[in-house]
Order: sequence, then C-alpha cells, then structure tokens
Amino acid sequence: MGVDPKKVPQIKLNDGSTMPGIGMGTFGSDRFSAEQVSFAVAGAIRVGYRLFDCASCYGNEDQIGEVFKAAYAEGVVKREDLYIMSKVWNDKHREVEASCKKTIADLQADYLDVYFIHWPFPNYHAPGCDVDSRNPDSKPFSVAEFMDTYRQIEALVDKGLVRHIGISNMTIPKLKQVQNEWRIKPTVCELELHPCFQQQELFDYLRSLDIQPVGFMPLGSPQRPERDIVAEDIADMKLPEMQEIAAKYGVHPAIICLKWAVQRGQIPIPFSVFEAEYTSNLESTQTPPLTKEDMDKIATLEKNNRLVKGQVFLWPGASDWHDLWDEDGVIVDCPDAKK
Ligand SMILES: NC(=O)c1ccc[n+]([C@@H]2O[C@H](COP(=O)([O-])OP(=O)(O)OC[C@H]3O[C@@H](n4cnc5c(N)ncnc54)[C@H](OP(=O)(O)O)[C@@H]3O)[C@@H](O)[C@H]2O)c1
Repeated sequence: MGVDPKKVPQIKLNDGSTMPGIGMGTFGSDRFSAEQVSFAVAGAIRVGYRLFDCASCYGNEDQIGEVFKAAYAEGVVKREDLYIMSKVWNDKHREVEASCKKTIADLQADYLDVYFIHWPFPNYHAPGCDVDSRNPDSKPFSVAEFMDTYRQIEALVDKGLVRHIGISNMTIPKLKQVQNEWRIKPTVCELELHPCFQQQELFDYLRSLDIQPVGFMPLGSPQRPERDIVAEDIADMKLPEMQEIAAKYGVHPAIICLKWAVQRGQIPIPFSVFEAEYTSNLESTQTPPLTKEDMDKIATLEKNNRLVKGQVFLWPGASDWHDLWDEDGVIVDCPDAKK
C-alpha cells in the first residue's frame, strides 16, 4: 500500500529544480487537533508523501516537527528527501526572519524548501475569530509593504534558510504591480483551485509568468471552518457530473478532483487525517489519466464558487469580501499602485 516516491510525478520549476506533483495539506480547519494532523503526517511519509504544506498559523508546526525528527531518526527519510513548505502569517510581515527561524526550529527542518507570503497584506485576525469580526488596523494591499515583506524573504534565500519563494492568495492586478520588482522570482503561487473554482485567467497568467500554481482546497474542502461556509456554496464532490465520472472509474469523487488537478497542471495539496483517504489521494497519480471527454466535462463545472472569501481581512471602509479579490481589474483602495 502506498506509492514509491520516485513514481510520484515531479514538476519542473522556473529555476530548473523539481518538486513533487502532489502533496499533503496540514491545516486542521479548527476541527482536527495538532496531534491528529501530525499523526497523519507520520502516516503520509510512510505511504510515500514527500511534499508537505505547512504554515505557522495552522498551530501545529512543532508537533509536525517531532514527526519529521522521528522519521529522520528511524531512517525512514532524510531531510533532503522531504519538500517542506511553510508561510509567514499576516502579523509577522515586519519580522519575517524571526518568524521563519521559529518555523524552521518548530519543524526541525534546517531550511525550508518554500517560504510563502500567506496573504499579500498584513491584516491580522485572531485564530478562529467570528466571520463578522474586523480588525481596525487592517489595511488595503500596498505595493511597498508587500515588496518590503518579499525582500525579507529574498534575504532568507541569500542566507540559505529558504530555497524558494512562494506567494499566495494573489490576483492578476496585484501580480502586475509586483512582477517586475522582485530580485528572486517566486517559483510557486498557492491559490484556491477545485472544479467549481478553476480561476482560469489567474491560472493562465501564472503560467505565462512561469510560476507554478499550487492548488489549495483541491476537493472543495468539505470540512472547512464554519466561518468559510455560506449557504450558496456548492459541494464539488457532490455534483452529479463528478459522481458520474467517479462511478465510471469506480473511485470516490475526491480521486477525480485530484486526477483533474494533476492533469490540468496544478499541484494539489489535499488534506486528510484518515489513512485510507490520504493513501488513495497519493495513489490517484498512479492510475491511467482521465479521458479528454472527462477533462472537458469537468472544465464546464466552473461556478466561480470561491470558498475562502477572506472577510476577516477587510479594512475599515471596504465594502465586502469582493474588495479583496480585485474583480474589476484594479486593486481596491491601493495607496501606491502604478498606472
Ligand atoms: N494558502 C492558503 O491560504 C491556504 C488556504 C486554505 C488551505 N490551504 C492548504 O490547502 C490544504 C487543503 O485544503 P483543505 O484541507 O481545506 O481542503 P481539501 O483538501 O479540499 O479537503 C479536505 C477534506 O476532504 C476530505 N477528503 C480528503 N481526502 C478524501 C478522500 N480520498 N475521499 C473522501 N474525502 C476526502 C476530508 O474530509 P472528511 O474528513 O469529511 O473525509 C478532508 O478533511 C490545507 O490543509 C492547507 O495546507 C492553504
């Protein structure tokens, strides 16, 4: 049971290096404890996962670090066999090095393969806070502030603490403002991607910049936190089309979501604490691809159903969550956008 890591698809990045084409998420969604998540990481290493998507705000990096340490000690893997990603949280944009060093210490990792700017603005909200809560200190995106945070990660690359830079929760207008500013180009961008939210334009734009999309919530995140659930949301895996395709192959719709993701060219990072689920998620890369007909059918399931709306990051004066996503092609309230 499981997959030989050498047989997991590898994706070539813009600096010539490679990374695994599927990984495991580690956000417990306020529903699964740090112990449950880290226990699953231990199991995932044994069944062949090598890529892990971590973040300081998931509140479990020290427990996951203990798992990595035990795996090294038992000779299951070496540090260089793993591809460990983490992210700086919104309240640490002015203290990136300290935050990165804490993450590296917690994860017992020596260095990070990717360090992301988790959100492109420094707007902090308390973990698990109510969806209507607002922080009066929150601000709209600023090019100068973003680049200041980015430069701190570039310095971490120079120091050897970080191998690659990642960006996350970006939009095309924001990318256009910063894409000529960086000294070290990001290799990857995390964005929400699942059949009902394909973000085709942003996906294509990232590819045109040679930045690899990493798709979060690849299964439509059925266990996401309460604050990210609204009545209109669509459950990707319950769509009749997904169920029909899954029935044809005799698999769970989760497997179809992941096969679609890998074939489309994004790196999915599904989460599960259940061994049968996370094992079958990895094994989805080892079976024959979906047909063109199936891929075309899934392409029609786009419903612009963004699940992480991000309301808690709104600044005073913002109207609603749409303001975070620059839907009219301009960065809302940005104080220093170039024309
Ligand atoms: N950069 C960012 O801002 C950002 C934002 C969100 C998430 N992320 C990352 O993306 C990762 C994945 O997102 P996510 O955890 O929210 O959503 P997800 O991976 O789309 O969904 C996870 C859920 O799907 C179900 N599942 C998993 N494998 C399954 C299978 N084989 N069969 C049936 N059901 C299955 C599980 O629910 P049950 O327990 O019901 O089986 C699990 O809790 C996170 O863990 C995190 O690392 C990043």
